[in-house]
Amino acid sequence: MKKNLFYLISAVVLTACNSSSETENITSDDPSSTIVERRSCPSEEIRAELLKNDPAARQRYANVEVGVQNVLDGKVLADGTVDIPVVVNVLYRTSAENLSDSRIAEQIAILNADFAGTNTDASKIPAEFSGIKAGDTKVRFHLVKTVRKSTAKTKWGTNDAMKKASSGGIDATSPSSYFNLWVVGNMGGILGYATFPESAGLWNDGVVIAAPYFGKTGATSPYNLGRTATHEVGHYLNLRHIWGDATCGNDLVSDTPTQTGANYGKPTYPKYNTCSGTSRSIMFMNYMDYVDDAAMFMFSAGQKSRTQSVLTSTGARSGLRVY
Ligand code: ARG
Ligand code: ZN
Ligand code: CA
Repeated sequence: MKKNLFYLISAVVLTACNSSSETENITSDDPSSTIVERRSCPSEEIRAELLKNDPAARQRYANVEVGVQNVLDGKVLADGTVDIPVVVNVLYRTSAENLSDSRIAEQIAILNADFAGTNTDASKIPAEFSGIKAGDTKVRFHLVKTVRKSTAKTKWGTNDAMKKASSGGIDATSPSSYFNLWVVGNMGGILGYATFPESAGLWNDGVVIAAPYFGKTGATSPYNLGRTATHEVGHYLNLRHIWGDATCGNDLVSDTPTQTGANYGKPTYPKYNTCSGTSRSIMFMNYMDYVDDAAMFMFSAGQKSRTQSVLTSTGARSGLRVY
């Protein structure tokens, strides 16, 4: 595509100079008029002059056409949806840890449903919160490549060893353009972890998930609905824990009620917390809490805005729009 753009730009610049006359004489079969004046719109000629003399304008012109092409190629969809390319890096010791292609497809489908708001359990969103649910966040995911590597390691930590070949892992594939997801056999009590957008494009940028909590079929209850990935991708797209990682902390999202701390298991709705003297019904069913997979089923509208912001053309993760 880049090549085509280059030729297109060269063609515009080269043809510009020799279009000197705005009108031209053409002969007609009609005997009553031997010479007619043809109308002419000089916009392209003016543009060509601009592009010829101004390298910055040439760059802007190329960017415009890349943006158009991204929509045509389905990378940024016409309705503004960003379709994020995913590379899954699997580090396995046992054959069970070497997750099947269908298990990986299942996890991608779960991400797509959860970020589209088409997850079947969205029907459980309490009426109190249905007006501020995200619905379709306009973020989608598509698998580009799966990289597999066998390892003798029985346990991984949170020191990013899995993200470097030199420490027994798999190097990220172009992390500014692809969302890298690593699957490891075991991280002890940790289901997964993520980097936030300030790490965009760094060697360690992406999400790690322990194999038992990846996908659905054969996954380990109560984390067997693929929601660890939904939660970690939330972080990757700039969402904080709903309790703000502090007692009555701030998640920088105004429509998620302030709550005293994390929730676990399957809380019963409604559940009230008091922060700064105000009692509120809390949104423990949010993907950014710590409840069981079956107990989390929504993002809020405010969270949707935050995730979309990092994916705009000026956002920290704009690189994900390109491929
Ligand atoms: N990083 C969190 C952990 O390791 C992920 C929690 C995801 N929650 C879930 N229900 N899957 O605990
Ligand atoms: Zn988290
Ligand atoms: Ca909040």
